[in-house]
Amino acid sequence: MTPLLRRARLLPLIAALLLSGCGRNMYDQARYESYEPSSLFADGTSARPIPEGTVSRERGAIAESFFTGQDENGLLTELPIPLTQAVLERGQERYNIYCAVCHNYSGDGGGIIVQRGFVRPASFHEPRLRAAPVGYFYNAITNGFGRMYSYASRIPPEDRWAISAYIRALQLSQSATVADLPADLQARLQAASSHAQGAPSNTVLTQGDAQ
Ligand code: HEC
Repeated sequence: MTPLLRRARLLPLIAALLLSGCGRNMYDQARYESYEPSSLFADGTSARPIPEGTVSRERGAIAESFFTGQDENGLLTELPIPLTQAVLERGQERYNIYCAVCHNYSGDGGGIIVQRGFVRPASFHEPRLRAAPVGYFYNAITNGFGRMYSYASRIPPEDRWAISAYIRALQLSQSATVADLPADLQARLQAASSHAQGAPSNTVLTQGDAQ
């Protein structure tokens, strides 16, 4: 018998073995559907709580205050992420998308929706909000504030912090003094203003100069 024929004679045996595993009882086994009630557990639900200390696969171990904006001492006073140019740019982009319609691009509270009749929020430049901890802004985005609804379902925590950091930058932009500028920009400003007293100057300070 050729090896091929010998193998062919085994085929019915292999088929019988394979087919015997094809019953539907594995598929139809007893199980709970999502959120199905259960009398097995004291709380009456089949959904089990996440064990304490569980670490997220996507994010790793992150302090709860990153999500809530507060710890045992109250609202966070420090940004819980490193402050970088990229974070501020992301914050600016998200702020302009989600917040500027009411709070305005400058943060003064006179956005287009307010111009059309919506209640005017306080300016971010008033002393009370300039003194507020950064967690205050995170908290307002997360939980809403008075007549402003929560943005928790639309803006993930990382972006809420980026927006909060950008609001800080907006606040600084409206209250910075010449002394806050880097030395070289201060010198250029001085040169520009002394020029301005004589002939018109073509020295222009742009955003790019500040980097
Ligand atoms: C639809 C308009 C609207 C949008 C969009 C909006 N807000 Fe507001 N926000 C308000 C109003 C109105 C208030 C004041 C609510 C009140 O006093 O009842 C407010 C209040 C706040 C406050 C508290 C100010 C205070 O007086 O203490 C913060 C902080 C804030 N908003 C941040 C944001 C941020 C950040 C975004 C974007 C993610 C945003 N808001 C989007 C309308 C808006």
